[in-house]
Amino acid sequence: MANNSEINSNNVVWHKATVTRERREQQNGHRSVSLWFTGLSGSGKSTLAHAVEERLHQQGCRTFVFDGDNVRHGLCGDLTFKQEDRSENIRRISEMIKLFLEAGVISLSAFISPLRIDRQKVRELIGDGNFFEIYCECPLEVCEERDVKGLYKKARRGEIKNYTGISAPYEEPLNPGLKVNTSKQSLDDCVELILTTLAEKGVRINSNCKEIDS
Ligand code: ADX
Repeated sequence: MANNSEINSNNVVWHKATVTRERREQQNGHRSVSLWFTGLSGSGKSTLAHAVEERLHQQGCRTFVFDGDNVRHGLCGDLTFKQEDRSENIRRISEMIKLFLEAGVISLSAFISPLRIDRQKVRELIGDGNFFEIYCECPLEVCEERDVKGLYKKARRGEIKNYTGISAPYEEPLNPGLKVNTSKQSLDDCVELILTTLAEKGVRINSNCKEIDS
């Protein structure tokens, strides 16, 4: 493990790119932005993020999905579900997303990200105007009934500790950019809502990318 003097950035000088975010955005025809899906496990974050990505990709946008389960196999494979590790998980992802914003990419991230403070830190790190929080609202009973991975059952049996919604907290966003209710609205309706909102926010900037709305 590196000590602090080895890991700080005191003697590291930022190298400025000539191909800037603005130039990449012009080339892409759209702004880069972070679509941050938050909600309980089983609330549909990943499904929705991939469905929105599919549509954006078909319209010629540069996109990438960061998925909690996937990232925890690699970049964050050393982290547990203790509170401090979840915060570290979100911190690493937010740094990654910051780079993807510079790369001109629309990132779609699907992490439970249960704490408001951690989501607020993402917003502060990447900038308010780049951060679009989408709350995937879904009652715990419905998520438990879906139990796609069988983890809620394990958590109820006490085989998994600190399980969000069962033995660890989830703090709903107080003022999300958008709220979708995945127990009441269809996947298609949720996707439309997100694409319409993106269009209203002026994510498309020139004809290099097709209309972001339908
Ligand atoms: S976060 O809280 O740090 O944002 P993240 O989105 O990366 O969580 O990972 C959540 C996924 O890990 C869940 O969808 C579930 O499949 C799995 N998982 C395993 N253990 C837990 C746990 N204790 N709490 C929540 N999810 C867990």
